[in-house]
Amino acid sequence: MVRFRFSGSNAALADESADTQDWVATSPEKLPEAEAAPPPSKPAASPAEPKFDLLDAKLRVHARLIDEIDLSLLDKLDETDLKSQVTNLVREIVREERIAMNSAEMAEFASSVYDEMTGLGPIEPLLKDESVSDILINGYQQVYVERKGELELANVRFLDNDHLLRIVNRIVAAVGRRVDESQPLVDARLLDGSRVNAAISPIAVDGPLVSIRKFSKSPLTLEKLVSYRAMPQEVADFLFGAVRARTTTLISGGTGSGKTTLLNALSVAISPKERLITIEDAAELQLQQPHVARMETRPPNIEGKGEIRQRELVKNALRMRPDRVILGEVRSGEAFDMLQAMNTGHEGSMATIHANNPREAISRLEQMVAMASMGMSQDSIRGQIASAVQLIVQAQRLSDGSRRVVSIGEITGMEGSVVQLQELFVFNRLHTESDGRVVGEFRATGLRPKCLDEMQRRGCGVPMSMFDPNRVLGHSHG
Ligand SMILES: Nc1ncnc2c1ncn2[C@@H]1O[C@H](COP(=O)(O)OP(=O)(O)OP(=O)(O)O)[C@@H](O)[C@H]1O
Ligand SMILES: [Mg+2]
Repeated sequence: MVRFRFSGSNAALADESADTQDWVATSPEKLPEAEAAPPPSKPAASPAEPKFDLLDAKLRVHARLIDEIDLSLLDKLDETDLKSQVTNLVREIVREERIAMNSAEMAEFASSVYDEMTGLGPIEPLLKDESVSDILINGYQQVYVERKGELELANVRFLDNDHLLRIVNRIVAAVGRRVDESQPLVDARLLDGSRVNAAISPIAVDGPLVSIRKFSKSPLTLEKLVSYRAMPQEVADFLFGAVRARTTTLISGGTGSGKTTLLNALSVAISPKERLITIEDAAELQLQQPHVARMETRPPNIEGKGEIRQRELVKNALRMRPDRVILGEVRSGEAFDMLQAMNTGHEGSMATIHANNPREAISRLEQMVAMASMGMSQDSIRGQIASAVQLIVQAQRLSDGSRRVVSIGEITGMEGSVVQLQELFVFNRLHTESDGRVVGEFRATGLRPKCLDEMQRRGCGVPMSMFDPNRVLGHSHG
């Protein structure tokens, strides 16, 4: 039998001396991978476990395929041809090895072997599953997925940590990076745009840790966000009008609170006549406008050279005649240049920022600018922030997993050396149901937004009734 030669390791090859007949005898009647895999909590080497399972068989067939198929074909053939070649070969090998399968099982098996060769192996079905938004791998036998805001264990596992590591390397190799002991942390992006972070030994203690934020093919629109109760219709209307009228807006929130989603959704309000430049670490934004120039940072190469940071890109963007600059996430020195942009004719520029409330967003911004602008006084930094940023939309992932806009703050200027922030809308939590669901209501605070005049001037006014603090906005928020 041939050895698995992908990475010079033969760990993925199932017990070579094993008798295939033995596998046939112990293989489950039904073969889908999900059912053949043991629950992740169970140690892999449990003596009660069948000696072979579908994963073993797949890797064995894979090993033979690697040996028998002309690997240069992998790049030359198109997907359909390659798939049919692989299917034919798999069929032959399965017949030779006398693995009992009917034709439906055979087709599924061939497609999973194909995934194993060209794709991401066991997690490929999860990547194709539209209902899965995040895939979180904690070592080879534990994979969690997020569906509709809730984490659940997926019935998927890898053969061992080497198998998982090979897949991680395949992901990062596609973007010209690699992960090993000297570079155990890496960010990458799949072909479909999904974002991947991997941490391996010695950083990861119990096997590779992989977090995948899937790229949503149909991003959430403002209408959908309203129907998911992320915000009431009135608030969506207000934000739409504000963005349309070029109100400079920051979207603040914790990790995974829905910031990027909100930024994407709000961008529909931007006039198609404007030229937008987007800057991101990993291009995630899916703006619908016709005139969008997208830029992405570049990490340093193995020698630590060639890095292009967001800061350089923001500076460069200003030479590209943008109407607005959209920054995926402001996290360091580029804050300084972004504020300059916002203050010099690029009103309506937008960014997300990692903070727990609008006030904190301001102080984080201040820290970032202070680090990048050596010598600028605190007062002038604050002055810059106060004149650049107008709205801060706060997103939050609540304890029940739902993602909501919980506050909209407006910066109204400076008083002494303090940036003045007034809250326009707020989500008040009322109580938590026995099933954990958070019940609350959305109201205006009664303050009249300062940006309203400009909105009205530009024909983007909204009904005044939404600012009445006695009215609960939208439907009751349960
Ligand atoms: N209101 C919502 N309802 C349901 N799902 C949502 C909502 N908002 C965002 N999501 C989903 O939550 C996930 C995280 O959203 P998103 O990427 O926008 O968050 P983020 O705050 O930008 O995260 P990060 O901090 O990683 O940049 C995505 O899968 C997205 O589709
Ligand atoms: Mg984001």
